[in-house]
Amino acid sequence: MTYPSASVSFSESSKGSVVHELTSWSAGAADPRAFPYPAVLGEFHRVGKHFVGKELLELLDAARRRLPAATGMGDAEATRLLRDFLDVALDKWDGRYDYRSYLALPLLRLPGAADDPGPAGGAATARRAGDRLFVRLVADALAFERAALGQDTDLLPRQRPAPALVAKRCRLGVRAAAPALVRLGRCPAAGDAGPTDAAAALHAVAVDLDPAAELPLRLSMLPVHVTHDEYLFIRVLQAYECLFAGVAGELGAAVATLAGDRPGPAADRLAYARDLVDGASPLFSLLATMQPDSFRTFRQYTEGASAIQSRSYKRVESLCRAPSRGRLDSVAYRSVPEVRIRIRAGEPTVDEAYRSAVRDGRLDGPDRRLVARRMEEFAAALLRWRRTHHRLATRMLGARSGTGYTEGTPYLAAVRDLPVFTAVTRQSDPLDPVGGQHA
Ligand code: HEM
Repeated sequence: MTYPSASVSFSESSKGSVVHELTSWSAGAADPRAFPYPAVLGEFHRVGKHFVGKELLELLDAARRRLPAATGMGDAEATRLLRDFLDVALDKWDGRYDYRSYLALPLLRLPGAADDPGPAGGAATARRAGDRLFVRLVADALAFERAALGQDTDLLPRQRPAPALVAKRCRLGVRAAAPALVRLGRCPAAGDAGPTDAAAALHAVAVDLDPAAELPLRLSMLPVHVTHDEYLFIRVLQAYECLFAGVAGELGAAVATLAGDRPGPAADRLAYARDLVDGASPLFSLLATMQPDSFRTFRQYTEGASAIQSRSYKRVESLCRAPSRGRLDSVAYRSVPEVRIRIRAGEPTVDEAYRSAVRDGRLDGPDRRLVARRMEEFAAALLRWRRTHHRLATRMLGARSGTGYTEGTPYLAAVRDLPVFTAVTRQSDPLDPVGGQHA
């Protein structure tokens, strides 16, 4: 199942055929490896997840119940993939719909989110896996733009963007992917290539990065409606999730290093985290090209799924410093109970680990100054991210409330300038080069 054949035209009669395929699959051995993914995905794409018919949902639910509780040896991976897919596909049916299920995060297996930073080799592996996934997500978003422009797909046919907008998206997406591509030792397309050609070149490289993960990538696109721009929205959010998971991994490693005998190298982790955040900034410009009308159309069906539920982002924030009591008890952290539990259990932070290292005399002189400078730089990068996010949300949302049950942009304005660290003070950066004006 390769792009864009997963999105071939599905008519009303295909609804009957998916029911038929699923019934036959269930009546047979119900082998997870032979699950009729293309037919099921096709029906979800034809109408949007919010509108999938009861009959199909009941069949999928029955299929899920038939999956073995404990995965057997040989097809454990296939069983796990199918279970994750069904959980994501049935989130609204189950009444569990949220940000994680909307973005199909269990299917993407975000690298670098592990609590344990692991040995040096482990960190390098996690970094590469994160870069690969990031590139593939961005490249796939652009591949869909190109396919729609060339009329090669009828997936999400409503409110197609004009050719000039597609070119702009390709230009910004290629720029967003470039730092990760370079870290992977691959060359971004030559500067004189046109934006859509550059996006095609990016896609060719991306597919090659992890061919085995193509199926989960396809399955991780389950829009709630049939508006073209929802594809971009989902892929950009997923790419940011991948990025934040990587940043959390770096910060966790910085904490561990600061707690050790040689805290100086924590500076490198902080610098890497800073580069991750800054390097991906064209993603916001890319998302700023979303057509506000399209956004307002599909967000009618995303109520209850908000990035306020992003564990990775809250991990990043709370690994920098422990949130105040008021914030910990607010909707900000009540929306991420797993993260809240860790904080209440006293998870160490960069802020505290830095203070301890200085207090104990383990970090002083040039090493101390370097770590402090890297903390300031990372804080400035995160503050830029927050301010750009706030501007984008204001543009797209106006005075509307958020899907995470806050009042919307007033919430973002209130939390935008929260200090990232308290142990170092110079965090604001008057230069704010990221964002809407590039869009
Ligand atoms: C059209 C674009 C976007 C709009 C209109 C928007 C809007 C909002 C709003 C209103 C909130 C407040 C919580 C709520 O009630 O939902 C929020 C929170 C948040 N958004 Fe976005 N957002 C957008 C794009 C993004 C993107 C691309 C990311 C990247 C992952 C992101 C990450 C976050 C995070 C992490 C929070 C939680 C912030 C906190 O609790 O401090 N948003 N967003």
